[in-house]
Amino acid sequence: MVYKIVKLGHPVLEQVAGPVENFGTPELQQFVDDMFETMYAHKGVGLAAPQVNSARRLTVIDTSNGEDPAARLVLINPEIVKLEGSQLGEEGCLSIPGFREDVKRAMKATVRARDVQGVEFETTGDELLARAMQHEVDHLNGILFLQHLSALKRDLIRRKIRKLQKAGEWD
Ligand code: NI
Repeated sequence: MVYKIVKLGHPVLEQVAGPVENFGTPELQQFVDDMFETMYAHKGVGLAAPQVNSARRLTVIDTSNGEDPAARLVLINPEIVKLEGSQLGEEGCLSIPGFREDVKRAMKATVRARDVQGVEFETTGDELLARAMQHEVDHLNGILFLQHLSALKRDLIRRKIRKLQKAGEWD
């Protein structure tokens, strides 16, 4: 099923998500499948559980937009263990539709996480994949990309969103 994605203003997006404790269950596998389905339906390259109003430390990433099954990445209880270099590039978020801004991120990221079965693994990515990993792990800590912008830019976007909320065009 395709979940509804919650937007900026929903408190779940600014909470620290809790760890997944039960691995290898049909419920967890179904949730991961539904996360991918939801992400592809919205043409995203990453989706974190809080964005579908589930405050748990789980994210899915696919920088191939569904074209390469090998690019599907499930990160459960992820931790960034290494960041190297830097990159500046445009970033957006399915929970802040219509707004894209340049965000500085590390060029290369190494993440330690568990898979659906609970098996721990490490993976390293660079460029867009590294950006997605950093963006999604941020979500699990209640951090949105707006927090990486200048206060001026962030306030401008928040003001625009408040107008959309008042007009009933943001829910
Ligand atoms: Ni996002």
